[in-house]
Amino acid sequence: MDKKGRILTGHRPTGPRHLGHLAGTLESWTALQDSYECYFLIADLHVLTTDYEHPGRIQANILEVLADWLAAGIDPNKATILLQSAIPQHAQLANLFNMLVTVARLSRVPTYKEQTQQLSLTPSMGLLAYPVLQAADILVYKANVVPVGEDQLPHIELAREIARRFNQLYGETFPEPEGLLSNTPRLPGTDSRTMHTSYGNVIALKDTPEETTAKVMNMYTDPTRIHATDPGNVEGNPVFAYHETFNPDKAEVAEFKRLYRAGKIGDVAVKRRLAAAMNETLAPLRARREALMEHPEDLRAILASGTAQARLLAEQTLDEAMQKMGLAPAGRKM
Ligand code: TRP
Repeated sequence: MDKKGRILTGHRPTGPRHLGHLAGTLESWTALQDSYECYFLIADLHVLTTDYEHPGRIQANILEVLADWLAAGIDPNKATILLQSAIPQHAQLANLFNMLVTVARLSRVPTYKEQTQQLSLTPSMGLLAYPVLQAADILVYKANVVPVGEDQLPHIELAREIARRFNQLYGETFPEPEGLLSNTPRLPGTDSRTMHTSYGNVIALKDTPEETTAKVMNMYTDPTRIHATDPGNVEGNPVFAYHETFNPDKAEVAEFKRLYRAGKIGDVAVKRRLAAAMNETLAPLRARREALMEHPEDLRAILASGTAQARLLAEQTLDEAMQKMGLAPAGRKM
């Protein structure tokens, strides 16, 4: 095989994917499918680290995420798509890794500190061990490249430490995985904060053209500009970030910027054109998504087939790790 290496990355199925996922991650994953052996994970167990009290949406969200991925270009003939909870080796390897990590180390992980402060929740063992499970997700496939957002780099660092520690104690087994950041700048939410479902500032891939237009017309612009004749700021203005991402007519975008800076065009005109461009650019993806959602049994079959394939590799790695840690195979066959 002349591929550059093995990738594992994934999403938690927290709900339908939004344009931030599309521009930031799904487009880069789609591009990586040809040059790497790719494993794309739907991390349903990870959802329970914070949302264990609301299990009702998980099954539906798994299909929503899968439909969004496929519509965006993830191709089950090129990549392996897998469901975390259906491969118990992820949790089993995580449990072995738990022995190699201190509680103090895990309580210093930035995402853990933020979440326990922000959500003001009493952290569970599961939340503390979140990045250990993530390390198992990666290492159970011996993946060496992990495309993620910047906030996830501390988790990759922990996976590297675990791999190193394991190799040191039990012999060379796991590669030290590297994080791979996408070079597209992050798309802001419609209120110019980070795009996040819980902030209510997202445009979902599955939104209708009417919903998209309504959200665009309400989008934040330059807060310092009061009249259309005032010179406006293009930098940090979400309307222009979206134009750059979704309007294929680059000359038009450049002209809008010039007019906007000069105070010669109003927000409404720029937004109307943006909504039209977005709806046009997104139309094929949305049509694919709709068709996919009409056949949930096909989606389940795609997921089952990728999961079955991934499981074979996960079983091998778990056996190897157990043996090296003094547990298998004899004990398992008793
Ligand atoms: N923690 C990741 C996120 O919230 C999701 C995830 C779970 C993941 N396991 C992974 C990402 C393994 C990369 C590799 O986005």
